[in-house]
Amino acid sequence: MKDDILRRGRLGLQSEEVTLFTSSLESDRWIFDSDLMVDEAHVVMLARQQIIGEEDAAKILTGLDWIREDGIELLDSSYEDVHIAIEARLIELIGEEAGGRMHSGRSRNDEVASCIRIALRKDLIELGSLINRLRLAFIERAREGVSLIIPGFTHLQRAQPTTLAHHFLSYACSLERSFERLTDAYKRVNLCPLGAAAFAATGFPLDRAYACELLGFDDLLENSMDAVSTRDFAIETISVCANLMTDISRFAEETILWSTDEFNLIELADEYTSTSSIMPQKKNPDVSELLRARTGTVHGHLVSVLSICKALPNSYNRDLQEVTPHLKDALMITKNAVNITAGMLETLEVHADVMFDKSLSGFSMATELADMLVRTAGLPFRTAHQIVGSAVRMGGIDFERIEEACERVTGRRPEQLGIERDQVNRALDPVTSIDQRSVVGGPAPEECLRSIRERERRVKADEERLKSINERLMHAQKRLDDAIKELRG
Ligand code: ARG
Repeated sequence: MKDDILRRGRLGLQSEEVTLFTSSLESDRWIFDSDLMVDEAHVVMLARQQIIGEEDAAKILTGLDWIREDGIELLDSSYEDVHIAIEARLIELIGEEAGGRMHSGRSRNDEVASCIRIALRKDLIELGSLINRLRLAFIERAREGVSLIIPGFTHLQRAQPTTLAHHFLSYACSLERSFERLTDAYKRVNLCPLGAAAFAATGFPLDRAYACELLGFDDLLENSMDAVSTRDFAIETISVCANLMTDISRFAEETILWSTDEFNLIELADEYTSTSSIMPQKKNPDVSELLRARTGTVHGHLVSVLSICKALPNSYNRDLQEVTPHLKDALMITKNAVNITAGMLETLEVHADVMFDKSLSGFSMATELADMLVRTAGLPFRTAHQIVGSAVRMGGIDFERIEEACERVTGRRPEQLGIERDQVNRALDPVTSIDQRSVVGGPAPEECLRSIRERERRVKADEERLKSINERLMHAQKRLDDAIKELRG
């Protein structure tokens, strides 16, 4: 019978069925590396505080190295989680006299919270650079579309013309905020729960600040009860993902619509489409559809985690274990989705002619025409709105109908209001109309070019931010490695 280091004192063995039910080993793969790092930092700190002897610490550190080399596969999978499986393996490798000291002044509760935060921050940094890749892809495609006039929609009805640059920049802008939310969440992810033990801290003279530093955390989670009980950082991170995926799903939806024969504004690269097993002509936007669907999955993860955490009494409850897979999966789906979206965007073909033609039809110039009546004749906007609306109802916004509508609404002919035929015709030209929309954030080419430069500048600055976060972590890793080397002599 196995000598279960966890259960042998109090409980005796458990059936395989119940162990499987309680086990987190499968999703603990995600935190295997972080767990070894947390073990190392804890042991280095214990030795420095003379809570364990340097010789024992050195043995433990060597054993942890072997376990790292062997990988998670060699751990005893009948243990309920990676923490206890690593400890059991360590004891097996170096004996209990030294190995049995690793867990002094620590609980799996502060351990797991530390591990999750370390694994998560790595994913967050990766997600950050993927977001930046996607931002650059939108910026690049916007640059190509600075003078390309497209129909703009509200309620999915053709509304006013805009430019492709303006359309793509809208996504670059919202992704910018996603990046901002990500770095903001990172601040609260990268806090150190270690030293909180089960929840009531410990009587051992731990140096929490030292372990925190070795692990590259920015600060301590001070209150030991809060440190082990909270998963607010998980909720916050999945919320960042859910928000980001919502934007991805909006773009995915547009690629689905825009690539239909009915819209015909773009064509997706073959690689991002599938065909039918029966209808040989089909080119289906399956990638976009899956992006749309996986957004739902990520939203589900957010709701799951909120529901799991809600009403949990202080402090640790095993319910918290159930949060980790949702967090890990939400991150994985989101990273993957952002990456795929960038590739799809980079390769899609734009049907410039169709875009321009469709921007002309559907009364898209009605607003511009009403604006012109206000500017030229000094009419109240509401009156101009009625004139143009009436002309549309008559069937068109040509000069004749505007003339008739104007007389009906105001009792005066356009000429009497100082409106000439060619002014009406000019207002119907989308190129002139777009050029005029040069207010900050508008679709005018010069304004889009300015915005493109600004967006680019911000991506660069954000890349620098990621770089300095990475450098901080690498610096901490080096301090930890040095401390380990020193102990092992
Ligand atoms: N596998 C556990 C989790 O993910 C680790 C902590 C176990 N703590 C405990 N008191 N049972 O939350």
